[in-house]
Amino acid sequence: MTSTLVPPRVVTAPVQVGTANTVRIENVERSFAVREGRRDVLRGVDIELGAGEIVAVVGPSGCGKSTLLRLIGGLDAPTSGTIRLDGTGISDTDERTAISFQEPRLLPWRTLAQNVELGLPRRLRGRARGERVRELLELVGLSHAADQRPREVSGGMAQRASLARLLPATPACCCLMNRSARSTH
Ligand SMILES: Nc1ncnc2c1ncn2[C@@H]1O[C@H](COP(=O)(O)OP(=O)(O)O)[C@@H](O)[C@H]1O
Ligand SMILES: [Mg+2]
Repeated sequence: MTSTLVPPRVVTAPVQVGTANTVRIENVERSFAVREGRRDVLRGVDIELGAGEIVAVVGPSGCGKSTLLRLIGGLDAPTSGTIRLDGTGISDTDERTAISFQEPRLLPWRTLAQNVELGLPRRLRGRARGERVRELLELVGLSHAADQRPREVSGGMAQRASLARLLPATPACCCLMNRSARSTH
């Protein structure tokens, strides 16, 4: 992390997740070319996460939390250093990771059920698709809103539908970017 910024803190809790991988972040740096020169955002980041750990990265706005999650999710690459899932590097379309963004990013013309269906693997066919969608909606407490469109539901409901769309990927590593009550992190 840059010396001028408060570094993000990592808070963990152990859980059992069958598909989980270990995440190893070694000496990661990320800097961006900006008009004034170079902006160092992450420096010397070393984090090791055990399989199945639930981890929260917390810190003030702008300290590099989203930058770190984008790197783990494969949406961005470190300027230097390495990130490995179960010992292997991350590619930009890595099926072992999934990202839930700060906004639900649902398709407005589709119902919640149709949005959730987008997350199902292609190999799931016919009636099994509808059943899986129903299960996922029940899991996030949205069975009653299956046929509603995103503009007709609350922000929290839309966010839960977005989570239900993410879950079928059964990712080894789920990056959830959250909005705090006070400010956008
Ligand atoms: N693509 C980019 N180009 C230049 N600066 C960036 C870029 N992405 C992020 N930053 C800067 O990196 C810092 C950390 O951003 P971010 O990771 O989004 O912070 P947060 O902890 O709030 O999620 C901020 O100062 C931001 O302006
Ligand atoms: Mg952020």
